[in-house]
Order: sequence, then C-alpha cells, then structure tokens
Amino acid sequence: MHTIAMVSRKGGTGKSTLAIGLAVAAMEEGHKLCVLEADPLGTVSNWRRRRATAEPSVEVVHDGYALYHRVPALARGGITLTIIDTAGGWSDASRAAIAAADLCLIPARPSPADIEAAAPTLAAIRQDGKPFAFVLNQTQGRSARLYNKAGSLGQTAAAPDMVDVLALPAIALRNDHQDALGLGLGVTEYARAGKSAEEIRALWQWVWGRLTFLALADTDVLDAAKLDALAAAPPANQQVALRAAG
Ligand SMILES: Nc1ncnc2c1ncn2[C@@H]1O[C@H](COP(=O)(O)OP(=O)(O)O)[C@@H](O)[C@H]1O
Ligand SMILES: [Mg+2]
Repeated sequence: MHTIAMVSRKGGTGKSTLAIGLAVAAMEEGHKLCVLEADPLGTVSNWRRRRATAEPSVEVVHDGYALYHRVPALARGGITLTIIDTAGGWSDASRAAIAAADLCLIPARPSPADIEAAAPTLAAIRQDGKPFAFVLNQTQGRSARLYNKAGSLGQTAAAPDMVDVLALPAIALRNDHQDALGLGLGVTEYARAGKSAEEIRALWQWVWGRLTFLALADTDVLDAAKLDALAAAPPANQQVALRAAG
C-alpha cells in the first residue's frame, strides 16, 4: 500500500479538494482507496455522504494514535492507496499523518504569503525525513499560463533540483472543483473532458510516478533490473491486478 498525507498548516490551500480529486482519479485507474480524514471540519466525510457509490471508503480518525494504528490495518485489508486529509494548524494527527506517509503533498496557492506560510509544514516534514512535494493550487489566469507554458516556471521545475519537490501540473482555480465537491463527485467524474479533470489526472500520474519510484528505492539496492522495472512501471490497474494474482 502507498500512503499520501495532505498537509499544510494554513487552511484553504486545497488539502481536502485535492485529496478528493486525487482519490477519485486513482480509483479510476484501479486503485482500492481509503481516505482517512483527520480533520474535525469533516469536508471529506460530508462529501462522502453526498456520494451515491460505495467507493472510495472514507474513515474518520480522531487523533494521531488512531491514525497510527489504522494505516497498517488498511494495508492488511487490501487497500492499495490511502490518502490522509489533515486539518490546518498543527496537531498530533498531522504529525502521525506525516509519519505514516510515503509522500507528503503540500498544497499552496501561488502567492508569497501562502508559500511563506508553508515553511513550518516543510520543516516538520523534513525533521521526519519524509519525501514531499508542493502542489500549486488555485492558480489563476496569468500565473497558470506562466506556470504551465513551455519555458515557464513549470518548466524550470523540471530542473534536476526541483523535479521531485514540485508536483506538476499546477491546478488552476476553477468552479469544477467546487461543483464536484458539492455533488459528491471527483472532478474527473464531474466533467470528464474538462480542463480540471485533465489536470487532476496528470497530477495523479505525477504522484503515482513518485510513489512507484519511492517504493522501489525503498526496498533495497537499485539494480539494473529494478531500474528497468521502474522505467516500464505498468499503470496502477495492472499493478493492482498483478498484486491480486500474486
Ligand atoms: N483548484 C481549485 N479551484 C477552485 N476552488 C478551489 C480549488 N481548490 C480549492 N478550492 C476551494 O477553496 C476552498 C478551500 O479548499 P479546501 O480543499 O477546503 O482547503 P483545505 O482543506 O486546505 O482547508 C474550498 O472552498 C474549495 O472548494
Ligand atoms: Mg480541509
């Protein structure tokens, strides 16, 4: 099982929105999902209640202790991807989420205030030695174009020292995200051919590539065969099928 923690001490950066968007996009690729909600505001469980289908499962965890014990149990129960949504501010649950995660995602709006506000979150993640990546969210007009265009900041992010810590693409501010959330849908279910759906699917691909790499790098020595396997990593649905068969 892979585990992602959505963390940022600042509220309103898009932790819950991206947790939901990524969960549904991963589910559509064949993953068996659980979203653990460690936020008393209940954004994800409210969304879950508006949903007509059984998946993804959403579980509320009240504190760090519950979270610490629940994550390994999910892995034993056949969940292939857990996404932990955390509250703004700082709590033992945020700390436990970081500790449980293979990858921490830090959503931030592309403003100096938001990026500066991410510093304490980043410090906590680094203290734990956890892999992380920023996701620029709610980008608007010019900033979105600047970010995703060739020769742009987004392309600069492809520089070797940025490639692992800035997730691509940036997610633009669009009503689709809010409308989908209100209807109990993922944005990829709400408007399958829409730009927001396209961005979230591409972001999931980025995250999945990173998780696959981290899992392989974590096992033991990266030999040539593993590097080949990494280069040819099959899509998630095939991996899930392989795992079920094996
Ligand atoms: N890319 C986006 N486009 C439009 N609205 C967004 C986007 N991301 C988040 N929002 C909205 O911003 C607000 C805060 O997002 P939320 O996911 O609840 O943040 P957090 O969980 O970090 O507090 C919500 O009203 C949400 O609908
Ligand atoms: Mg939230």
